[in-house]
Amino acid sequence: MTKEEMYNDIRKWKKEKNAIILAHYYQDGDIQDIADYVGDSLALAQKASKTDADIIVFCGVHFMAETAKLLSPQKKVLLPVMEAGCVMADMMDEAAIKKYKEENPDTIILMYVNSTANCKQYADVCVTSSNALKIIDHYSKLGKKMLYGPDKNLGAYAMSKSDVKLDLWPGFCGIHNGMKVKDVEAAKAKYPNAEFIAHPECNLDVLAMANYIGSTKQLIEYVTESKATEFIVGTEMGVLHEMKKRNPNKNFYILSDRLKCYEMKLTRLEDLYNCLKDELNEIIIPSDVSQKAVKCVDKMLELSK
Ligand code: 13P
Ligand code: SF4
Repeated sequence: MTKEEMYNDIRKWKKEKNAIILAHYYQDGDIQDIADYVGDSLALAQKASKTDADIIVFCGVHFMAETAKLLSPQKKVLLPVMEAGCVMADMMDEAAIKKYKEENPDTIILMYVNSTANCKQYADVCVTSSNALKIIDHYSKLGKKMLYGPDKNLGAYAMSKSDVKLDLWPGFCGIHNGMKVKDVEAAKAKYPNAEFIAHPECNLDVLAMANYIGSTKQLIEYVTESKATEFIVGTEMGVLHEMKKRNPNKNFYILSDRLKCYEMKLTRLEDLYNCLKDELNEIIIPSDVSQKAVKCVDKMLELSK
């Protein structure tokens, strides 16, 4: 079956089933091109909260589809590959955060959206890479102790941008954390006229070398608006698809071939096709969990307006 034949069936089923396809920028280009909406984790959560579709097919990783389900509990949310997880989200387990909460009842728990619904139950607010600084700043005014997790790098970045003090959960994204200063130095030597842009899940020493730091959506918008014409890209390579599409005359160099999220790339067009056709892999969250976990996501959306 050709790609166009698959696309035609997918378009037909979308209409028949009143389904919408949401995709993260780290998905393969073939998936991004057939999606109704492509975005970063905040934009996709916002979209999921507003759609009037009956079915949401979420092309991304498990925590993202779970977030969509939390925000649209009455809708059918499908994840084309159920095993597509997030290594960072798995670095926080429910028992550990529950224990932390019991031992620190007055600490504000700010939780990165890259976390399971089970863990989100214990959070006061959720954040993504595009709104973390704003939301952390908002809570810092309460003068209470704060925990941020599971991404220690984004937490360290937030601390470096203000005088806020956070307890950091020791989690990280292996892909972003794996980027080293020497990788940036080598890329800058190879492309001396290029700007270096990076996702805040990178280490602070790498971020210190960046001309611009932002979420996937913010990075795409930055390169589109910038007068510069060459960029070294310090995030997962899937973003290059949209960057090149919007900016055919600019040049993009991925910092390293290692910047590939294997979890994101588990989803192939065939998986999306079968998932929508047979309505496979529905995300189910027990209602006692979802009622507690949705609160921190709602709070984030309220503060992100
Ligand atoms: P965004 O918030 O930029 O979508 O990032 C999500 C993510 O998993 C980055 O690794
Ligand atoms: Fe998780 Fe890292 Fe993949 Fe993002 S790139 S989904 S943080 S493993």
